[in-house]
Amino acid sequence: MADDRRPHLVVFTGSGISAESGIQTFRARDGLWAEHPIEEVATPHAWRRDPERVLQFYNRRREQVRRARPNAAHKALAALEHQGFRISVITQNIDDLHERAGSRNVLHLHGEILQARSTVDTRLRYPLPRGGIELGDVCDKGGQLRPDVVWFGESVPHFAEACDIVAEADLLLVVGTSLAVMPAASLLDYVPLDAPSILVDPEAEALAPPGVTRISQPAGKGVPDLARHWRREGRLW
Ligand code: APR
Repeated sequence: MADDRRPHLVVFTGSGISAESGIQTFRARDGLWAEHPIEEVATPHAWRRDPERVLQFYNRRREQVRRARPNAAHKALAALEHQGFRISVITQNIDDLHERAGSRNVLHLHGEILQARSTVDTRLRYPLPRGGIELGDVCDKGGQLRPDVVWFGESVPHFAEACDIVAEADLLLVVGTSLAVMPAASLLDYVPLDAPSILVDPEAEALAPPGVTRISQPAGKGVPDLARHWRREGRLW
């Protein structure tokens, strides 16, 4: 809505918001990248070397996503939106838990595991073949299908759009991300000077850049608490 005057809450999420739904984060000692080295499953080079391995990795992850359910944090954000707050969600997550909770305004910076993409024309996206993507599943142009996720070393197609959204924030709420990956983490630099930023993450004390308010709690507690506060006040601060 171009003329929407309501205060704009921009929420930037990482894998930590889905941790309480049973989806693994990446950089914990027992995180996904400890089990599956990035260079073997999440780079263009890995794909060229062993596409079968990459496809099976994402087919298994997809099953984990399908089994997961939105948790209290996803639901609190969706409920706020339905109660009339203006909310934009920018997520690094490739799961669909924000949407399943009911959020309508979600931008996936790193793609969506529940979609397929062409390897010969990266603009072409397709519904997933039943049972996941296998070698031999091809797009209209005859190219092998791949998961619609952004790998290390690839460009982030919606980054400019995400910057524009953050630049119009009245409050930036960051949830469950180590802020270790660029360019996603640099989104915090685009927030207007007079807009506060808050990080909800059990490791917030260590992770929050200067000037960011730290709430060192799991998302399932910290986000619903904030949402309750905003609802009670009828405004964001
Ligand atoms: N609630 C909130 N945050 C949590 C919870 C929880 N219950 N449990 C863990 N976390 C936090 C961790 O403290 C950590 O800061 O989630 C964060 C997860 O960080 P990473 O594993 O680095 O994941 P993320 O920041 O999402 O990674 C960004 O890197 O590997 C790529 O493309 C991948 O989108 C991903 C990107």
